[in-house]
Amino acid sequence: MKINTLINKEPGYAICSIENMKIFKKLRDSFLKNLKIPHKYKKNINNARVQIAKMSKAEINRSMINFLTFNKNLSEMMINSCPKLIKDLCGKDLFIQRRAHTTINVPGNEHTKQWTHYEMISGISPFTYIFWAPLHDLDDDGGAYHIDLKTSLKIMKKEEKEGLVNGPRVLEMMGLKKPPRLKFGQAIIFNPFVLHGNIPFQSGFARIACNVRFQSCNKPLLQKNTDYLKYFRLS
Ligand SMILES: [Fe+2]
Repeated sequence: MKINTLINKEPGYAICSIENMKIFKKLRDSFLKNLKIPHKYKKNINNARVQIAKMSKAEINRSMINFLTFNKNLSEMMINSCPKLIKDLCGKDLFIQRRAHTTINVPGNEHTKQWTHYEMISGISPFTYIFWAPLHDLDDDGGAYHIDLKTSLKIMKKEEKEGLVNGPRVLEMMGLKKPPRLKFGQAIIFNPFVLHGNIPFQSGFARIACNVRFQSCNKPLLQKNTDYLKYFRLS
């Protein structure tokens, strides 16, 4: 099935391959360069991940804020690492997130329970897509899980009827899901109606992933405006 159909219809998301690994490796190396750990751990991302996994919660939170974007062109680099697929979904003229996010998830039971949610909760338009990619192989459960569009929509409608947002039904889903194991160079693109989240995971390695949101510039922006987005034309 075509990736477009997977993302727009069922299951609402697709695992895809990064098209330009040169740009994506540059992006990962820029993360390592900016990381505040001894230089000897920066040569290999897995060594860096071990060091990050040992940091305190406060240090992790501080780095996350610092790494909201570790490179001023992070959003463009993300988009340019998968240009064909993005052009297929939205055309050449885009609105992209002004600052892509970098998230660091630390192993252990008290960390990284990200409640199942859908992106539209945060006010992005229904025409937005989310591009999520880890900066290394994912050999444990530190990734993200996605719930098929049909189930996601059914749950949303039920919650709407009951006047709930992320009620107990959604919370229970967290325990049931297993994030897929991805290779460095694989990404997940999903639509904003798809429920997704993280589970606590056991590992010696922290998980580092970047994500960026984008939509066609011909579609309505709705709540998110020029603070959040910027114009970008794919070449
Ligand atoms: Fe999310």
